Amino acid sequence: MSEEQNGKPEEWAWPELKLPDLLLTDTVRKLHEAIESEWDSLRQSACQTAAGRALWKHVTHDQLAELLAGETYLRSLYEKIKKDRCRNAREVSGVMLAVRTLWFDSKIEAALSSFDGGGAQVVLLGAGMDARAYRLSCLKETDVFEVDFPEVLQMKTTTLQAATDSINDNQYVRVTAKSLNRVAADIRDNDWLQKLQISGFVPEKNTVWVLEGILYYLSHSHAIEVLKIIADNRALTRTVLLADFMNKSSTTLSSSMFHFHSDWPDRLSCHL
Ligand SMILES: C[S@@+](CC[C@H](N)C(=O)[O-])C[C@H]1O[C@@H](n2cnc3c(N)ncnc32)[C@H](O)[C@@H]1O
Repeated sequence: MSEEQNGKPEEWAWPELKLPDLLLTDTVRKLHEAIESEWDSLRQSACQTAAGRALWKHVTHDQLAELLAGETYLRSLYEKIKKDRCRNAREVSGVMLAVRTLWFDSKIEAALSSFDGGGAQVVLLGAGMDARAYRLSCLKETDVFEVDFPEVLQMKTTTLQAATDSINDNQYVRVTAKSLNRVAADIRDNDWLQKLQISGFVPEKNTVWVLEGILYYLSHSHAIEVLKIIADNRALTRTVLLADFMNKSSTTLSSSMFHFHSDWPDRLSCHL
């Protein structure tokens, strides 16, 4: 007889979170401790997002997400998912991130195939712990640029290097893109495009701009300025801009973190 039949609520047989060995090595643990103690919440959002992709790995197929997210963010999201499932919540934590990942993946692929060759580049603004350059085979003829704060990109490189050093079969830590360039820049400053160009970005090449989980962290004027810079560059080339937006009410979820919002992103072009 089950406990439920016995009159007691049945315990949900919820499995323990399994962490990959790599995450438990001293080197990787120390790197993640530094992230937790030294980074502000803006930078830490990179690891939180990676945790979402990691715990929805069966959908996102992001094999590097656990390593890049770190134990703390994985455990925290795992507990939320457990609660949601036990309460039969209408939306389970992290699912939006998984959907968002798949949406951007498919739009990137579609944009690249619409270019019909000629060499293309993908720029990830606020790239965080995004591992598309390692994950998407559609990028094999494409130069990828990851733009983020210097400490975020440095930590990402160091963590991936630690993984390469400590495992024999490091197939997941192999870049599948034609090239990968990390560009340390604050996109609120007016020199980020210049820094991108110094790193090899060619304005005349067909470009996919990926603004995933970034615009709402910027003030209204900074977000519009970033979009303007991209729009001004578009005259030279075939350009696809992919971005997600928050509407006004969503930004109230955290008024200290979220700023820029647009209820009608399609209408933004008249401000650019
Ligand atoms: C929520 S994360 C999203 C990361 C990644 N796009 C993804 O979807 O996994 C936001 C990222 O934007 C970066 N970011 C925020 N403001 C930035 C700025 N002004 N300049 C450069 N990067 C910024 C943060 O460091 C963080 O990595």
